[in-house]
Amino acid sequence: MKQLSLLILMLGFFSLTAQDADLPADFLSKSFHHERREKLREKLPANSVAVFFANPVRNRSNDVDFVYHQDPDFYYLTGYNEPDAVLLVFKDFQTSVNNTKYNEIIFVQPRNEFREMWTGRRLGDKGVKERLGLEQAFNNSAFKQYHVDFSKFASILFFDFKNDVRDNPRDSSDLFNLIAQFKAKVNYPETNKATLAIEPAKNNLDMKGLAPIMDNLRGIKTKEEMELVRKAVRISCAGQVEIMKAIKPGMSEREIQGIHEFVFKKYQAEDVGYPSIVGAGHNGCILHYIDNYKPNITNTELILMDLGAEYHGYTADITRTIPVSGKFSPEQKQIYELVLKAQEEAMKVCKPGASFRDLYMATRVVINRGLKELGIIQNETDKHMYYPHGCTHHIGLDVHDRGPYERLEEGMMITIEPGIYIPDNAACDKKWWGIAVRIEDDFLITKDGYEHLSVSAPRTVKDIEAMMKQPSALDHFILPDLDKKN
Ligand code: GLY
Ligand code: MN
Ligand code: MN
Repeated sequence: MKQLSLLILMLGFFSLTAQDADLPADFLSKSFHHERREKLREKLPANSVAVFFANPVRNRSNDVDFVYHQDPDFYYLTGYNEPDAVLLVFKDFQTSVNNTKYNEIIFVQPRNEFREMWTGRRLGDKGVKERLGLEQAFNNSAFKQYHVDFSKFASILFFDFKNDVRDNPRDSSDLFNLIAQFKAKVNYPETNKATLAIEPAKNNLDMKGLAPIMDNLRGIKTKEEMELVRKAVRISCAGQVEIMKAIKPGMSEREIQGIHEFVFKKYQAEDVGYPSIVGAGHNGCILHYIDNYKPNITNTELILMDLGAEYHGYTADITRTIPVSGKFSPEQKQIYELVLKAQEEAMKVCKPGASFRDLYMATRVVINRGLKELGIIQNETDKHMYYPHGCTHHIGLDVHDRGPYERLEEGMMITIEPGIYIPDNAACDKKWWGIAVRIEDDFLITKDGYEHLSVSAPRTVKDIEAMMKQPSALDHFILPDLDKKN
């Protein structure tokens, strides 16, 4: 009997190490998540608790779900990548029934041999303790027995559920009921009659206080996060470089998307940080063009490619616009140089203390002046739609990441991304029609300025044209024509 239990123990040990061998070594560390929870606790108001819910599984259609993506705040604080979990971070120590003191607790989905055979491994309470280092970890089935008087807190901070589509009837864990309970309190405070473990007092629910706290935490990256963003950026630049070498007239927008994404996967990026934007000619005027349907790109067109690899949760956000032929036409070049100049003016003011608006205004002034000089607008002060978006946002776990949007600080990671988009039938000479250019780069804000992270993807006309003359690893990657009749 003793031998049998020893064997079981050893098997358990071996299966865990075997699993670990399948995982990349450069995920965020336990100590990162632990330290982030400590920082959150420091910023919480007196006598409060912050409650975070894991993202639900979202249904795609019938019995197929979308690939699971954790809520970024939840991931940031725990590293847990499964649904049906809740994390509670208390400002002060609580005491459990057996007199243990704790100031954070997590409930997670339990191990389930049958479900894991179909949909993949789960950590369960034990795995969360071992791998993620959360000492108070329980299966969510234990949630009903968890008793804390939530009316005693001055505030219970959590995010509103307005975007939560947790409506899957198969999702029958106790956390589903907890969420229904919070939802009921939020939406229909007087009519809620639920009697579950958490019974928040009506006046201590705070749905606004957590956002600025999480913005301040996530807006400044730690060294570990910087490494992951750098990696995502390097991978995304490799995609841009490869397509500069591989592109040919007759390729489809989808194929170009596929080449970028193949490079991402080659370098172990799990996903894209946002749907890939590949727009030839006037399709580039649609700012978030993700149809990518055009079957044959032509020699006379520019192609605008805005794609970001997501590496261990962190995303890059890089845009390059290149001529399909390998050489910019005079008009394309004039617009391109103008956008580049706008980006470089913003880079000149990019340092701690500058406001996000300072960067935007630097680009806006250059673009308005340039459009006037080219005769595309009549006066620099004309209202127009040729540059209809902002130029800077944080990047990180989200492509438009959380962070304070007032002044730049050391440790922020941001984009600078001016653009000019001239649709067909615009009120200017038709030689400009269908020209769309965006140039988007990623930056780390340093003590005195910035580090330009996406520098390995050529950005000037000269460098792009030179790169486009280089051979590609894909030049000999020729697949059979499936529509050809034989
Ligand atoms: N890719 C979206 C953006 O540039 O903000
Ligand atoms: Mn962007
Ligand atoms: Mn972008």
